Amino acid sequence: MHEATRIIAIDGPAGAGKSTVARRAAEALGYAFLDTGAMYRAATWRALHLGVNLDDPAALESCARAMQLDMQETEEGLKVFVDGEDVTQAIRSPEVTRVIYKLDQNSGVRRHLVALQRQFGERGPTVAEGRDIGTVVFPKARCKIYLDASLAARTERRAKELEAKGLPVDREKLRAEIHERDEHSRNRADSPLRRADDAVLLDTTNLTPDEVVARIVQLAREKLP
Ligand code: DC
Repeated sequence: MHEATRIIAIDGPAGAGKSTVARRAAEALGYAFLDTGAMYRAATWRALHLGVNLDDPAALESCARAMQLDMQETEEGLKVFVDGEDVTQAIRSPEVTRVIYKLDQNSGVRRHLVALQRQFGERGPTVAEGRDIGTVVFPKARCKIYLDASLAARTERRAKELEAKGLPVDREKLRAEIHERDEHSRNRADSPLRRADDAVLLDTTNLTPDEVVARIVQLAREKLP
């Protein structure tokens, strides 16, 4: 019921700035924040950690279903626990990012995580971000936003994030990786990334995070009065 009334669905490609602005918009509106990418990352981390055969779809699904996942919003941002272990950093590792496609294209894994995402949304007003929120997870959400930005802008943002963590960055390689992830998200058979027909397109290429947050908050107030 509140699926339609109090859900803000934000989708878009890697590096469009979704999680930063979605979190801040949630804060401004007093909504809960749901980072669905973190859930696919957590499931991937668990499969790697337990040495599950990544080419065995049934084993990946069982592994995801058996996961005890706990996500907590804290002052320092989202904390993610799998089976009681703090994996907040580990789920962002290049190793997880490299093999995550094996899980995010697995229909059994998706079904399970989508069910958890809907349960989260049932609990109260939520800003949810991902790739299939407006199309699959909350198709009846009244406020849907599709965030996009040029490949060059997204590459530059990711590069700055990595550099801020003191990591070396090869921009050409990074650009190719982001492009490859775009292609994968858009072309996979189950829940490909696409803008829902009723989603507002917001191109963030030339916008600051503050401007994007303000626009989302304004849209939410218009659509969810
Ligand atoms: O947004 P992110 O980079 O943390 O997402 C991690 C991966 O999970 C990425 O490969 C896309 C996938 N994903 C998905 O398939 N569906 C979602 N709703 C969210 C993320």
